[in-house]
Amino acid sequence: MCGIICYCGKKQAVPILINGLKRLEYRGYDSAGFSVVSEPGKSKSNKVRKNIIVKTKGRVFQLENKMEGIDIDATYGIAHTRWATHGKPSHINAHPQTDCSGKIGVVHNGIIENYKEIKEDLIRKGHVFKSETDTEVIAHLVEEFFTLCGGNLENAVLKTVQKLSGTFGIAVIHSDVDHKILIAKRGSPIIIGVGENECLAASDSNALAPYTNKMVYLSDDEIAVLTPNDYYIKNLSNETLDKKVEILESNDYKEDKRGFEHYMLKEIFEQPESLENAMRGRLIEGEGVSKLGGLEPVIDRIKNTKQLIIVSCGTSYYSGLLGRYIFEHLTELNIEVELASEFRYRRLKLNEEIAVLALSQSGETADTLAAIKEAKRKGALILGIVNAVGTSIAQITDAGVYNHAGPEIGVASTKIYTSQLVILTLMALLIGRYQGVSFIEGSEITDALLKLPGQVREILKEAPQIEKIALQYAKYKNFLYIGRLFNYPTALEGALKLKEISYVHAEGYAAGEMKHGPISLIDKNFPTVAIAPDDLTLDKMISNMQEIKARSGKILSITNPGVKKVIDISDDIITVPRTIPILQPVLNIIPLQLFAYYIAREKGRDIDKPRNLAKSVTVE
Ligand code: F6R
Repeated sequence: MCGIICYCGKKQAVPILINGLKRLEYRGYDSAGFSVVSEPGKSKSNKVRKNIIVKTKGRVFQLENKMEGIDIDATYGIAHTRWATHGKPSHINAHPQTDCSGKIGVVHNGIIENYKEIKEDLIRKGHVFKSETDTEVIAHLVEEFFTLCGGNLENAVLKTVQKLSGTFGIAVIHSDVDHKILIAKRGSPIIIGVGENECLAASDSNALAPYTNKMVYLSDDEIAVLTPNDYYIKNLSNETLDKKVEILESNDYKEDKRGFEHYMLKEIFEQPESLENAMRGRLIEGEGVSKLGGLEPVIDRIKNTKQLIIVSCGTSYYSGLLGRYIFEHLTELNIEVELASEFRYRRLKLNEEIAVLALSQSGETADTLAAIKEAKRKGALILGIVNAVGTSIAQITDAGVYNHAGPEIGVASTKIYTSQLVILTLMALLIGRYQGVSFIEGSEITDALLKLPGQVREILKEAPQIEKIALQYAKYKNFLYIGRLFNYPTALEGALKLKEISYVHAEGYAAGEMKHGPISLIDKNFPTVAIAPDDLTLDKMISNMQEIKARSGKILSITNPGVKKVIDISDDIITVPRTIPILQPVLNIIPLQLFAYYIAREKGRDIDKPRNLAKSVTVE
């Protein structure tokens, strides 16, 4: 949520900042802006450095348009793309925010919880506020402390951060301070990129990747000073810290849509490779078991774990729900799945015999982060399945597994969902083989896993056929998605995909629950998407589908080839290859992702950046 990019070097800053914002726009896209310090000119009237702030309501391209014909000579600055929390999207609320003198520029990702008290205090001291944002208090606090600290920006930012509560990734510049950018972190990500005669910082490494592969990940309550030739990091006690420089793997960075119309479509089509990457080097076929190096340091604790609680949000929560069925199927563990936003408020009896597993694409979701912090405080073992390397959730976990799926840019999660399902299966298999799962059963699972990428390729070949079906359904205003057991989460995720990108109302339900309420919605204008593979629950699914037909409801079914019972009762059919029941959802979701995509495209929606959403949800 909100993207920050900073540049301090010898090159022109504005094009670098704008380019960075384009890469970060998925994090928020209601306004954008930058603050750069202009170089003093040769003329007498322009002998001093100036803080120049350019911002706009709307997208980065609108900011770019605003720059046409304007030439700013500046070699350091900060920029921001916003997802509004305090104050509606507007020019005045857009970042950067500034102080009374206009010399300071501040960009911020997160929420300052005590901003009202700080604002009231600063107003009493004579500061004049212009925006409705919580961020503006940071600019005025820095102004206040800058004077008190005798013009030392580093100390001013340190004192400011000590006053703030809430979450933040911030960057600050001051036009009286030559070529210095101050950044700080608590709860929201900010990463330093170390280049040749230049230092950058950004909310994610993908924005820095065109300039450097050397990354330094800040932890909470750290501040850093960036100059063109150097950087240093301190904690809030003003002690200098020595932090490791991490090298970004080249495949963690992908530049463009590779000819696809949208990132979402590209990412749907990347699933054969993202599944291969999730499994690469992690299966010991001859032994019917998996090998997860990231869990090895805590494997003895995992073996003694009595209960596993999966915490996550949104699509990652739905993969957690399926994870429960997979773990129940393969292990002796007691499993709970909890929405991260609820978990942290529950009075749970956690201890070292309990493991809490966080699932997160971004590794920055504030609710998930808060949930595992709470669990850690109570002594639980904290595990993670995270895609974005080095992020806050990855840092807090005791051990974990990376998805290695490459960046997911489309706001609607697709390839990470299926990748999470595969990694959950690998984890359950690893634990299950220490418990009841036999070599034969384990081998069946490893065989089925290895076939998945090829089976996904087969489904993707049918995209034109799925598109035709989707277009027939694009006129409906409401949809019900139903499934049972392993495919109940598929129904929830299928419905979420449709509603978030097409803005069409869709509800996911456990098929057996339909008769307890939602069936009253069904008529000829309210179609049902039935996820009805050929498994143990099929007969019960057929009964539920008959109940829908009896009320004139139209049915689109996702099933396996040749399942006559489903063919007979459905209006339309999409078939997917057969696999073992626990993995069938990995295949069943692919046509539902495409179905949602084609309906949203038919409706002309902004598929990669649906309204009101953002990719990385760093507010609670
Ligand atoms: C929906 C979607 C969201 C995320 C949720 C959690 O398509 O992408 O529901 O799944 O915001 O995000 P992560 O996985 O980054 O923690």
